[in-house]
Amino acid sequence: MSTKETDYLVIGSGIAGLMFALKASVHAKVMILTKREMTESNSNYAQGGIASVMSDTDSFDEHIRDTLSAGAGLCHRDIVENTIRQGPERIRELINYGVQFTTREENRNEFDLGKEGGHSHRRIMHAGDITGKEVKKVLIDVVKQNTNIEVYENHIAIDLITTKKLGLSGSNMVVGAYALNNATNDVLTIKSKVTVLATGGAGKVYLYTTNPDIATGDGIAMAYRAGAMIKNLEFVQFHPTCLFHPKAKSFLISEAVRGEGAILRLKDGTDFMKKYHHMGSLAPRDVVAQTIDFELKKRGDDCVFLDITHKPKSFIQQRFPNIYNKCLQYGIDMSSDLMPVVPAAHYFCGGVASDWNGLTSLERLYVCGEVSCTGLHGANRLASNSLLEALVFAHNASESSQHYVANDYPADVQSIPAWDKRKAVDSDENVVVSNNWDEIRRFMWNYVGIVRSNKRLERAKHRIELLQKEIHEYYWDFVVTNDLIELRNIATVAELIIRFALHRKESRGLHYNLDYPERNNELWCKDTVYENKSFIEGEALCK
Ligand code: FAD
Ligand code: SIN
Repeated sequence: MSTKETDYLVIGSGIAGLMFALKASVHAKVMILTKREMTESNSNYAQGGIASVMSDTDSFDEHIRDTLSAGAGLCHRDIVENTIRQGPERIRELINYGVQFTTREENRNEFDLGKEGGHSHRRIMHAGDITGKEVKKVLIDVVKQNTNIEVYENHIAIDLITTKKLGLSGSNMVVGAYALNNATNDVLTIKSKVTVLATGGAGKVYLYTTNPDIATGDGIAMAYRAGAMIKNLEFVQFHPTCLFHPKAKSFLISEAVRGEGAILRLKDGTDFMKKYHHMGSLAPRDVVAQTIDFELKKRGDDCVFLDITHKPKSFIQQRFPNIYNKCLQYGIDMSSDLMPVVPAAHYFCGGVASDWNGLTSLERLYVCGEVSCTGLHGANRLASNSLLEALVFAHNASESSQHYVANDYPADVQSIPAWDKRKAVDSDENVVVSNNWDEIRRFMWNYVGIVRSNKRLERAKHRIELLQKEIHEYYWDFVVTNDLIELRNIATVAELIIRFALHRKESRGLHYNLDYPERNNELWCKDTVYENKSFIEGEALCK
């Protein structure tokens, strides 16, 4: 067991964590912890791109309007306006680091702006159909050359370290974290002046997800255990179009494909979305996913189909090379075949509550990226607004936290407790972990998915309470492992989602409950806010 000290501890190496680290490293020492290799993250798989106003024919007002409209009344207007207005500056920063966004073939001085669901304009900056990979490659190269940044790969943060003594604002103060070195099984105690959670989302709480294995909601669970305020976890976004193929492991077919004219069809060829929304196949995601779910259940079909066969093969291959090749691997030539697709859990609009600076309710704890709930997305995120949010809030948090690193720790936190190994022994029953993991993901999909009801939610609550008891005992009896840490976290996030979903007694955006099918602006046009194990009144957002 060893102890380390740093100015900034950044947990996570997605676009949010890397961007924060680069900015913070200008004036202090940064340690990045990441639980696999640096590349592995949701960011790495982002296809569509980054939404920002980058053309003279577009305007901030229109991007703001689209974001508010997707958010179904729960966006915080000030956050939306400021985030969108900052977009072009953050994009230019990426370009200065060396990110190459795709330009138009007819004029290489103009960006080739993509279109996605809910956007009234072409405004998605993209690098082919592998935007996340391109941005991460560039940022990782810059991070590796930076002598103020140390990276600890294969280290999973277990819990935040808080002081019992009250901080300046009257809240608990976060002074570091414990992390397990997956190679040696040692637990590091890390003391930091500022701790940043950039741990991403929690798609793995669900059986079917577009997210990679790292997305187990660790940041949300750690912040919750440390006493931070959590918001809006009932709003889980399901992406409408994942490839339906037994070997594809929920491979995403980007919304940009629909942006270029692809149409969703039923088995018999019907363009069904036209009946439900004036934007048809390009309606906001909540509408498309709920409609597909409805049609599949009504007809007993396994999937719907995405059709872009009316576009020339050369265009498809050039605009979507990664998607084209991946589909071809599974025997689907998207220029001549329809792609079978289904919805899957994709993005968490809720998370650890933060202000405009990414500061949480706990002193010295910041969040940026998908782990946070900043007020930008409301009840449903507009496509490609999440990478924008990650960039903007990484910037804001790095600016706002500087004063903490300029000074020493308060006198009462000069020493922090080392990890207590307790009397834990090695487990000889790892099957408990994998069984519980499967069970949670399955009942979350069946009972707390795209369409919910009170009965399903109550069932899920009962199940998670039983499992939580078992996991709790197991956690304290046995030596911590990566799998056990992740299981404990998905169980915590699952329990929170269920509680949040039961609390909101209406349907809005991504939360659809058959027992309350209508939106209720009078009573529920507010965030769902959970702190110290109870719900507190959120700010009224419909004026
Ligand atoms: P991530 O990129 O997920 O990074 C989280 C990091 O935290 C990882 O490095 C992980 O290993 C690390 N971590 C987690 N827990 C721990 C722990 N306990 N200890 C140590 N490290 C930990 N959004 C858009 O705006 N545009 C798109 O085109 C787009 N396409 C997408 C396509 C796919 C397939 C997916 C899955 C998502 C897409 N999204 C898109 C959403 C977007 O990619 C994510 O919301 C965003 O990348 C999140 O970035 P992040 O830095 O917050 O988290
Ligand atoms: C996509 O490319 O469809 C994903 C975009 C997003 O999640 O914002």
